[in-house]
Order: sequence, then structure tokens, then C-alpha cells
Amino acid sequence: MTSENPISAAQVDAVVAEALAAIAAASDLTALKSVRSSVLGEQSPIAGLNSQLGKIAPEFKAEAGKIVGQARGSLNQAYSARETELFAAEERAKLAAESVDVTASPLTARIGARHPLALLQEQISDIFVGMGWEIAEGPELENEWFNFDALNFDVDHPARAMQDTFFVEPVESHLLLRTHTSPVQVRSMLEREVPIYVLCPGRVFRTDELDATHTPVFHQVEGLAIDKGLTMADLRGTLEHFARSMFGPDAQIRLRPSFFPFTEPSAELDVWHPGAKGGARWVEWGGCGMVNPNVLKAAGIDPEEFSGFAFGMGIERTLMFRNDVKDMHDMVEADVRFSEQFGLVL
Ligand code: DAH
Repeated sequence: MTSENPISAAQVDAVVAEALAAIAAASDLTALKSVRSSVLGEQSPIAGLNSQLGKIAPEFKAEAGKIVGQARGSLNQAYSARETELFAAEERAKLAAESVDVTASPLTARIGARHPLALLQEQISDIFVGMGWEIAEGPELENEWFNFDALNFDVDHPARAMQDTFFVEPVESHLLLRTHTSPVQVRSMLEREVPIYVLCPGRVFRTDELDATHTPVFHQVEGLAIDKGLTMADLRGTLEHFARSMFGPDAQIRLRPSFFPFTEPSAELDVWHPGAKGGARWVEWGGCGMVNPNVLKAAGIDPEEFSGFAFGMGIERTLMFRNDVKDMHDMVEADVRFSEQFGLVL
């Protein structure tokens, strides 16, 4: 007597078809995971068929075992294929969401720009730091003694006159807005041990009206070197290196005899500016000289043992002739369109 196999191919096909439909219907990885137990887990129809195999008559076992095994294999395969597919789709969606539109219109707000005077001051400082010099600073509200007396200015020197200097009331306080960066020389000599090599950039004040070439608030940079055996040749070499770093390898300097109370001998410094607009030419750049022995003594340094040189120049003036800025107003008005022409240097 022959009877039918209790696990029929049609029955297995129906289980497979239903499971495949559930796998295909899962639209994302989370949904797929949640159908896993119902199509492949211990309670799933295919697992039911599998455990039924143990109970059927031996003559049907081989055939039933084969179709149930094949069915399980194809469901496992379908599951992992769908998993790979959904994973790839989710990756694609993530990348699309994070992508940058390189054709989008740029930011229209102004970023701003650093002021060219600040950049120039920094560039000058870098040149000297590169030679091993230090940066020194002093107060803008200064004592008259540092600004004038210690620098060997006579009591009746015209620069002390009310019309040049902003004195601070009450006059007996002897306070003023420093008229140059030279008082930082004296402060440096008092505060530091020799040898001294300092560069002192800073803001200075004079009672000038604002016009195309003057401003009551401006900037200077001062240099001071104190050591054993320094001569005018050291001053010249330093200034020549400075000039070439600022104006290119063809720059030259020349010193013309002059007078400053705090240097002896003193000189005016001119620079041959090869890149000048309208052709190379000599430009007055600043003052310099060998530190006057009276200044060394005021700062407690023995002029028999040490000598020094000093120099000073205006930063606005340097920017004017270096970058062909014709009107001082442009430098003080803080219009970002002026600063932007010098580049967005950080
Ligand atoms: N302090 C001077 C001024 O404001 C500039 C100057 C000249 C500084 C000669 C120096 C120097 O150090 O040696 O005009």
C-alpha cells in the first residue's frame, strides 16, 4: 500500500512563497529584522516543517528532507540578499543627505580683513624676532621723565611745548600721552639685563590735525641694541637687512647727519625703494643713531663699558610709501573695503 508523503512539495512551496513575500515587503533593515523570526525563527512555518521531518515514516524522510532543506536554503539566501540590498540603499540615502552642493551660491556677508597697519607691524616684528631680538612694550600714558628727561631733552626743548604734546591734567602729575616710542628704550634698559636687543612697536600721540599726511594718533616702531663694542657699522648692517626684508633685495639705505637729543651721532635714514610707484627713488624713512651716553647713564648703564644704537620710524608713513596709500584718512576711517585690498591675511 502506498500513501502520500505527509510533507508535500505544494505545502513547502506555499510556506516558501509566503516567507519570500514577507522578506520582499520589508522596506528597510529594521522591518527586515522584525520579520526574521516569523520567516526563519523557531516558531516559523519552515521550522515547523523541519521538526515534522523527525516524525514521518522512514520511506518519506529522504524526499521530504530534501525539499524542506532546499526551502530553508532558499529562504536564508533570500533573507541575506534582501539585507545586502537594503543596507546599500540606506548607505546611498545617508551619503545623499550629507552631500555638499558645490554649485550653491557663496556667502554674501563680508568676512572682514585685518588692518594693514596691524599686518605691517607684525611683519616688522617678525623680521627682528628672526634675528633673535625681543619685542618690548611700554604704556601709552607715560611719565614726562621717560618721554623727555631720560632721553636727554632740554627742559625748554620745543617738543615739550603744549602745542605738540598731549599733557594730562593736572599738569603737576607730569603725565602725558607718549609722543614717540623712544621712552620704551629707557624702560627696557631699566628692566632688562644687558645685552639688550629689543623692538618696540606701539601707538603714539601728537597734537596734529588729521589731514592727508598727519593724524594725531599714529604708530611707530623703535629699535634698541645695547652691547659691548657696538658701532655705527652694526646699526647700518641691521637697517640694511631690515630695508631689504621690507622692500626687496635691491633696497639700499643711506644715513644723513642729523640731530636727536638721545643719540650721538644722529642720522636721518633714507631708503632706496626699488618698487616705488612711478620708479625707484630715495624716501625718508626714520631717524637713528648711537645711544647718547647721557641716556645710558640715566638708565644705569655704564657708557664706558657698553654702547648702543637706536632707530625709529613711523608705521603709517612706511605703509604710505610702500603701498602707495595717498591719504591718511583711508588708514584711520576703518572702512573694510580699504583693508580688503591688502588681502585676507590671518
Ligand atoms: N623718536 C623719534 C621721533 O619720534 C624717532 C627716532 C629717531 C627714534 C632717532 C630713535 C632714533 O630711536 O635713534 O621722531
